[in-house]
Amino acid sequence: MKTANDGQPTGSRDGLMDHHCAADEGRALWRGNSLPMSATASPILLHTIENTLALGRELGTAARAGDVIALCGGLGSGKTHLSKGITAGAGSPSEVTSPTFTLVHEYRGGRVPVFHFDFYRMSSADEVLGLGWDEYLEAGGLCIVEWADLFPALLPEGTAWWRLSLEGKTGIHTALRLDVAPERPVL
Ligand SMILES: Nc1ncnc2c1ncn2[C@@H]1O[C@H](COP(=O)(O)OP(=O)(O)OP(=O)(O)O)[C@@H](O)[C@H]1O
Ligand SMILES: [Mg+2]
Repeated sequence: MKTANDGQPTGSRDGLMDHHCAADEGRALWRGNSLPMSATASPILLHTIENTLALGRELGTAARAGDVIALCGGLGSGKTHLSKGITAGAGSPSEVTSPTFTLVHEYRGGRVPVFHFDFYRMSSADEVLGLGWDEYLEAGGLCIVEWADLFPALLPEGTAWWRLSLEGKTGIHTALRLDVAPERPVL
C-alpha cells in the first residue's frame, strides 16, 4: 500500500512550519503552498471553507492509486469538505456529497478514481467488509474514509490519518495530520 508520502522527503517539523505555514498564535495557518508529508506539528488553522478545500486539493493532487486517507473528527468538523477538496485535487469533475446512506460514493473520470466512504452508519467492521471494503482497497483508486476511527483495524498500513476539529472556544476549524490511528474514536 502506497501513501502520499512514499519516497518523499519529510523534512523537519520546523522546516514545515517555516516553509508552509505562518505562525499564528503559536500554531500553523494553512497557506496551501505544499502538502504536509508527515504528522503536522500543530493543528493547521482553517479559517474558511476555502482553506479546507485548498488543503484537500493539495492532498488530492499528491495522491496516487492505492492511497488511503482516513478522516476523523466530530460531527461537522469538516471531513466532507476536506473530502470535496481531495476529490477535486484528484481530478474528478463531480460534485462530492456525503455518502451518509450508502457506504461509498465513487468518483471516476479524474487522474485517479476516488472512493469516498463514511463509516458513521456502519454497525460493525464485518458490515463494512461485507460491502466489499477489501475490493475497494485493491481497486487502484484513492480511498477517503470519513469516521475511519470507528473501525481503525480496517485501515491498511500506510494510511494517512487526519483529525479535523471545530474548536469550541474559537469556532475555528483545524486539521492535524496524525502519525498513527487514534486509540479511540474522536467524537
Ligand atoms: N473552515 C471550514 N472548513 C470546513 N467546514 C466549515 C468551515 N467553516 C465552517 N464550516 C462549516 O462546518 C460544517 C462542516 O461540515 P462537513 O459536512 O464538512 O463536516 P463533517 O465532519 O463531514 O460532518 P459529519 O460528521 O456530519 O459527516 C459545514 O456546515 C460548513 O459550512
Ligand atoms: Mg461528513
